[in-house]
Amino acid sequence: MKYLQFIGLASVVFLIHAFKLENTFQKQVPVKSIEERVDSVMKLLTLEEKIGQMTLFTSDWAVTGPTLREGYREDIKAGKVGAIFNAHTAAYNRELQRIAVEETRLGIPLLFGYDVIHGYKTIFPVPLGESASWDLDAMEKAARIAAIEAAAAGLHWTFAPMVDIARDPRWGRICEGAGEDTYLGARIAEARVKGFQGDDLSKDNTLIACAKHYAAYGAAQAGRDYHFVDISERVLRETYLPPFMAAKKAGVRTFMTSFNELFGVPASGSRFLLTDVLRDEWGFDGFVVTDYTSINEMVDHGIVANEKDAAELSLDAGVDMDMQGATYYNYLLELVREGRISVARVNESVRRILRIKFELGLFDDPYRYSNTEREKARVFAPEHLEAARDIARKSIVLLRNEKNTLPLSKKIRTLAVVGPLAANQKDLIGSWSGAGDYKQSVSLLDGIKTKLGTTVKILHTEGCAITGQDKTGFKNALALAKTAEAIVVAVGESADMSGEAASRSDITLPGVQEELVKALVATGKPVVVVLMNGRPLAIPWIAENAPAILETWFLGTQAGHAIADVLFGDYNPSGKLTVTFPRNAGQIPIFYNAKNTGRPMDPLDKYTSKYLDVPNTPQFPFGFGLSYSRFEYGNLKTDRSVFGADSSPLKITCTVRNLGPYDGEEVVQLYVRDRVGSVTRPVRELKGFQKIFLKNGESKTVAFTLTADDLKFYNRDMIWTAEPGMFDLYVGGDSNAALTTAVELR
Ligand code: BGC
Repeated sequence: MKYLQFIGLASVVFLIHAFKLENTFQKQVPVKSIEERVDSVMKLLTLEEKIGQMTLFTSDWAVTGPTLREGYREDIKAGKVGAIFNAHTAAYNRELQRIAVEETRLGIPLLFGYDVIHGYKTIFPVPLGESASWDLDAMEKAARIAAIEAAAAGLHWTFAPMVDIARDPRWGRICEGAGEDTYLGARIAEARVKGFQGDDLSKDNTLIACAKHYAAYGAAQAGRDYHFVDISERVLRETYLPPFMAAKKAGVRTFMTSFNELFGVPASGSRFLLTDVLRDEWGFDGFVVTDYTSINEMVDHGIVANEKDAAELSLDAGVDMDMQGATYYNYLLELVREGRISVARVNESVRRILRIKFELGLFDDPYRYSNTEREKARVFAPEHLEAARDIARKSIVLLRNEKNTLPLSKKIRTLAVVGPLAANQKDLIGSWSGAGDYKQSVSLLDGIKTKLGTTVKILHTEGCAITGQDKTGFKNALALAKTAEAIVVAVGESADMSGEAASRSDITLPGVQEELVKALVATGKPVVVVLMNGRPLAIPWIAENAPAILETWFLGTQAGHAIADVLFGDYNPSGKLTVTFPRNAGQIPIFYNAKNTGRPMDPLDKYTSKYLDVPNTPQFPFGFGLSYSRFEYGNLKTDRSVFGADSSPLKITCTVRNLGPYDGEEVVQLYVRDRVGSVTRPVRELKGFQKIFLKNGESKTVAFTLTADDLKFYNRDMIWTAEPGMFDLYVGGDSNAALTTAVELR
């Protein structure tokens, strides 16, 4: 079976008995290229079987959308489906694969997809939280581990990474991406693709990745999921497309279309996106899958009259595989017979899909990803849990720490651990937690207990629920708080308040949680607010009054240990926000790299761009995060004051000193402002960052390089170019970095 080749007519026999043949015989067959092998399969397929390869159905395990098909097993047997999602575990997928391989005419293996978004069983922080680590190696490792576990559990394909830039915290899916910045989003997209796909797809521990949702899904109007998008081509190309392009360059094998429309055409029917840009401009040679029933939804969008026309539009646009909508399944044969879609067009898609099945080695051994022994050994492997704890603590952002409230002393005698999320396990794994089992997650309370042992008296009560108006629990919470030396209060959202179909118009703390925090702060004791949430929250009172605040997102399986590591100083927090936290929802959209306007804010001038009731500034800016140490920046220099497109890169250096009192990491950020452009330019743009470790008292020189290419944008004629002129450079620990110098590009 290993060296099975598909070569011309002889391969009919190989295919029918593909997986029953003797190895010795097959090993003598010369190795053919993937293209030749794809050719040989193409010759054998009927049109119906080709359409089957272009069809993806969910199993009955989990459904992430509105419809459920009955009888997908019969479809597999009939060769009418080429890929299945929401089926996992080695044993289950082996059985489905057996049907495809042994009971269909040609025995073509199925491709198994699943939303392995931030872990398969070992769950890592939600992607937005993980991005706050700014640690690309750690993010790559998290994706690698997710792939190692999932690939042992029968899976070949993850519907990740989500690389949608998101600037609206009302949108629940902001939780699934890397935040608001395009440059950072592109670097994280590369890291995650590399992590999932590894360096060799034919290995048994890699998954093909999927860059989603192509494109501009994060720009949904009013932050409402599935709502329409209306942005310019400039914004699309400068802000939303670069992370997709980066994923493509990193070798991502699949793209998923988005639900939204763009320029009046739903993405699943957009020839501009799927052919002009993706294929012709970028040269993508993998396959494109739709999002769940998004071809069918083009009827509701009002761009086609019925599903058959929708199938035609999407085929014509460049979609290769229909997820769950059965539009290709139901209408493609007719469309070809009526001459509305050419066989050549169908062949193109089928070739792309088969090529990837070959790349994964599925024709050599269709069961290679379904190995129960390997599954047992790899899922929840101790080194995976250790890595999950490490990236979880790196993702925590210290938002406030008045009078060095943190770290707490381990010698404390009595600690109150309160709040609806303090003992919670269920929400810690966040939305899209794959096959994650929340019962395996470590609650904050358990994390603290494990760290402190029995020497500290730990008091716990919820105080209130996440939602609802019931305050009867306050009394008990306050009673405990009064007897404690310090209070840790865990508040936030439930996991299902972010993710898909989970937009909120009010992004404050739900229920009476803020009142609970206020009552606890009023005791005058040291209070640490531990936030758990999937989006930026508007918490103005807490931001200005709570002694200490830790943003912990939903940190996954090891959450409690990771938070305890930070609370008690075993890890010095180093996370930085990758998305702006507004003061209130009325400031949305608010992101750091906005334009200056012709009337930039001047507090003394009424007729400038501002609100009457709230400052323009956010509560916490992009790039912000404190440490238990203080870092001092200085000595910003460039190796020249003028540089050119054909000269060597500009070298920028600065020194960063850890003023103590702890060892710690700092994310050193480089921002640029293009003073004058042929079109208006953002007030700042991130162009580089480095996460460095400095011992207490240590100082390091950090170097960045900048080329003319890094300064390119779409000029007035929509040409991607760098324009000569003056550029301000800023280096520091957040997007308000004050240390500055200027250079000229000639
Ligand atoms: C989501 C996708 C997901 C798909 C499959 C859809 O509803 O938008 O992100 O990959 O379901 O579960």
